[in-house]
Formats: sequence, C-alpha cells, structure tokens
Amino acid sequence: MMALPSIESLDLKGRRLFLRVDFNVPIAGGRATDDTRVRAALPTLRHAIDRGARVILASHLGRPAGRRTEEFRMSPVARCLADLLGRPILKLDDCVGEATRQTCLALADGETVLLENLRFHPGEEAGDPAFARELASLAEVYVNDAFGAAHRAHASITGVPALLPSAAGFLLLREVDYLGRALAEPRRPFVLVAGGAKVSDKVAVLEKLLDRLDLLVVGGAMAYTFLAARGDAVGASRVEAPALEAAREILRRAAGRGLEVLLPDDHVVAERFEEGAPTRVVEGPIPEGWVGLDIGPATATRYAQWLAGAGTVLWNGTLGVSEWRLAQEGTRRIAEALAESGAVSIVGGGDTAAAVRELGHAAAMSHVSTGGGASLEFLEGRVLPGLAALARREAPRVPAGA
Ligand code: 3PG
Repeated sequence: MMALPSIESLDLKGRRLFLRVDFNVPIAGGRATDDTRVRAALPTLRHAIDRGARVILASHLGRPAGRRTEEFRMSPVARCLADLLGRPILKLDDCVGEATRQTCLALADGETVLLENLRFHPGEEAGDPAFARELASLAEVYVNDAFGAAHRAHASITGVPALLPSAAGFLLLREVDYLGRALAEPRRPFVLVAGGAKVSDKVAVLEKLLDRLDLLVVGGAMAYTFLAARGDAVGASRVEAPALEAAREILRRAAGRGLEVLLPDDHVVAERFEEGAPTRVVEGPIPEGWVGLDIGPATATRYAQWLAGAGTVLWNGTLGVSEWRLAQEGTRRIAEALAESGAVSIVGGGDTAAAVRELGHAAAMSHVSTGGGASLEFLEGRVLPGLAALARREAPRVPAGA
C-alpha cells in the first residue's frame, strides 16, 4: 500500500496552509443540498485550526470550463461550512491574484478563508505549472484532503504539492486505508456487489478484482447485460450491446476459477421505461416488451442471505434505477443486509453513497467513500496522481511534542 505522509507530520503553527478539499457538492437554489463532503473534511480542518494554522481552503465546484460562472461560485459552500463550524467563513472573490495574496498574508493563527472556485481558471484543469506556482505562493505548507479529486492531475492536486512541504489529510488517509485494505488483505469471504447502469464503467474493476473475490453479486441495469450475455431473455430491458462480450468474458473467467456469480432471477419490470408506469414482479425470463427496473424480492432475499456471511463487502452501483422511488427496494434490502451483517462494508461513492445516505444506513457502513470516479480508479489499481504527488514528497518530520 502507498505510504502517505500525514498532516500530523507537518508543523502547522502560524503557517499558511493550502488545504485542498473536495467541496464539489450538489447546489440547488443557492444552497448545498448534500453536505457530506464538507462534513468529511471537518476533522482535518479542525485539526489545522487547533494547531494554529492559517487555513486557505481550496476546491473546485462543478465544471465551469475555466470561466467565472455565477452558478459555480463557492458562496453556498462557504455558508454550509459556516453553519457546520458555527462561525462565519470568509469566501474570497478569486483563488489567485494580488488581493487574494494580501488577504492570505494577513491571516491570523487559526483563521480560515475559502478561495473561489479553482476551475474558474483554465490553468487548474490544465495542470499549468505557472498557475500552480501562483497557488503555492499563497501558502507555506500543503495538505490534500480531496480524495474525490485525487484522480485528476490538476494544478492544485499535483502541481502545488511539488512546490511545498506536503501531506495527506485525515479523510484522504481514511479512504486510502479502507479501499487499500479491501484490495490488499480483505477479510474473507470477499464479496463485490456491482450495480449501476453500465457494465463498461465497471469492467476494469471487475477484471482487477475477479481473481481475489469469493463471490460476485450483480444488480442494476448491468445485470440485464450479464443475463443477455448468458443467453437469457431480458425483454426490452436496457442492455449495453458493446459490453456483451466483456460480460461474457467475465462470466467465462469466473466459471474457470469456480467463482460464484449471482444474477437476479426475479425482477421488478415495467410496461415502459418511465417513472410511474405500471410495474409487476416476474420470475425467470423477462417477457417481451417489458423493462427491468430493479431486482425482485426473492433475489433481494437471496442476495441478503449471502451478504450475511460475508467478511468484506465492496459495493458499487445501485441495484435498481436509483432515482426512481419505486425501483429502490432492491438497494434498500441490500443496504439493510449490510447494515446488519458483521462484514467490513465499503460503499463506493457517487449514486450508491447517496442512496445509502438517503436510506438512512450510511452510519452503519464501515466506510462510505466520498470519491466517485476516484474510488473506481483506485479499485482498478490505478495510481491516482494526487496520491503519487504526496507519496513522492515525504514531509519534514516534526519532533514529538512540537
Ligand atoms: C467528483 O465529484 O467526482 C469529484 O469532485 C471530481 O469532479 P470531476 O469529475 O468534475 O473532476
């Protein structure tokens, strides 16, 4: 596993800290509608404040493509953070430039400011060294706690840590610890629950993990591609034709090493793919013209029974159409089964994490990742640029008690 220097190894007292976080949260009506990522960065932020750092928080929000865009301003995030901390947070009007620098230079110990969206400047996503130098000039030390963005080789992720003493925040360390241990030394039986819409999104993870798994459980729309690959009738369900061969190959490899693959054998189906269309439960093949929306109740029971005996469960992808209430039952049953099981339960970010939170089971999971694309790439075994940038630079050690 990649050893990363921890924020605890940095001397923070009286020093300007560039703290890269992933505050890329959903915004609606000028408010952050899900504060999970902001909450997840609080332990690192509180640690920095308590140690007397002068904190310069930096994040991207959305994809403004290098332009200042009203809808992607960080103001709602600043309000959300202020609510969580119980004190106002100054949000700057830019993330670079003379005015920004002067404000940062004037910070007092323990004071915190939030920079404006890093992606208002094209240099961020381009990984422009000149832009990285401007960002780095604001601070004296760097901490990355933005696991969700660690797969991006952007200026604030890879450029700044090349210029300042750098370390990982507690959230980043926790993510790498849970996901890394699941890959390296899972408690067995080791189960992957793979759901979501597309097989193609998960092929690389499946290929990486197939030889290590004790059980593969498949749900979501991707199950119909697997069923079709096996030659089963799936009616008018969503099948990803270009991924059929990959699905066949995964089934072949699994069979070759005696790996059990669970596919749904009953289904919630609808007359047409439309929320509110009449639904029913069918066993076995899906009739002509009907569309699969969710795993059926018997499948959910069967899956739950298997999960009860698992040692480690990695779950990525919802079991039904996640945004339709009527198709959430399978996901709810799996979340409940995991909440009740003694397994180490690790939920991949994005839709699955949002569904688990909405269903009220997030606290019962061992770990819910804040990374969508980042957690997938990590599980694929790829080296995330943000982690590599920290691993390269061992931070100067602080003597104990300093
Ligand atoms: C995410 O939401 O997955 C991260 O914040 C990364 O965002 P991006 O996909 O726009 O780079």
